[in-house]
Amino acid sequence: MPGNSSGPQASRRRSPADLIALDGRVVAVTGAGGNIGAGIAARMAAAGATVVAHTRSSPVEPIGRSGQPGLVVTADLTTPDGPREIVDMALERYGRLDGLVNNAAVQTVAGFSELTDPEWSEMIDTNLTATHRLTQAAAAAMAAQESGGAIVHIASIEGSYPAPGHGHYSVSKAGMIMHARAAAQAYGRAGVRVNVVSPGLISRPGIEQAWPEGVGRWREACPLGRLGTPDDIGDACVFLCSDLARWITGSELVVDGGVMSNPTW
Ligand SMILES: NC(=O)c1ccc[n+]([C@@H]2O[C@H](COP(=O)([O-])OP(=O)(O)OC[C@H]3O[C@@H](n4cnc5c(N)ncnc54)[C@H](OP(=O)(O)O)[C@@H]3O)[C@@H](O)[C@H]2O)c1
Repeated sequence: MPGNSSGPQASRRRSPADLIALDGRVVAVTGAGGNIGAGIAARMAAAGATVVAHTRSSPVEPIGRSGQPGLVVTADLTTPDGPREIVDMALERYGRLDGLVNNAAVQTVAGFSELTDPEWSEMIDTNLTATHRLTQAAAAAMAAQESGGAIVHIASIEGSYPAPGHGHYSVSKAGMIMHARAAAQAYGRAGVRVNVVSPGLISRPGIEQAWPEGVGRWREACPLGRLGTPDDIGDACVFLCSDLARWITGSELVVDGGVMSNPTW
């Protein structure tokens, strides 16, 4: 079970390979048309889950399980009803929701001292407020299931160390890390676990050409010597949504090839 109901005795009888499988689970992924979101959705499906793929405007392939079509939900998450629609449509189609990955976000660049109110609001409304609304809606549905559920927020290593031009983004990501801890406390007894994956720099088509100096700096700083991939993040999400992570909640899993291990001074 994805929440905390796979107790120590029950899990003893299952192999780790069985515990990580998501067969029979329904997992919603927001921003599934984006770079990392598509990777998360694909890895969830590869682990056996039926994916509810959320998008705002990007095209998304429905990813089902065992050849069945999955579900695509189109919603602007900054509207009051947008987050709720994802949960409602999952329940309507499948009658359950076992996992949620809060991945959709904006990553605008703006100087901190010149930041305008609309720039600030877009960042906080999308990255933090939508995460909160969706977590509330999903956790209520999961708490009503005997098996509970698991929620993962996609934050960033910038939630711990702000980068130039990304102060408002870093604030939103730090808020998501704290939100997961608060939600872990609020929903743990209901069998709902809430954790964070904090990615480092993730490869996307064209990044080498668009930002050669940043990519070069990253490779220098990264103990594992490369940029991350959407699959690296997807696999961390699969783990946290699976029964292998049954006693993990309120945690931040940094997936950055070791960059955060470097001294900061
Ligand atoms: N890229 C990195 O190196 C990196 C590093 C650390 C953390 N992250 C985090 O990883 C996550 C995914 O990043 P990414 O690089 O894959 O970004 P991306 O390709 O820009 O994808 C983000 C997705 O969020 C969706 N979105 C934005 N605003 C929305 C809104 N108001 N309502 C609904 N959907 C909205 C977009 O949907 P549409 O396209 O459909 O409009 C987009 O597909 C984000 O949380 C980001 O902060 C990324």
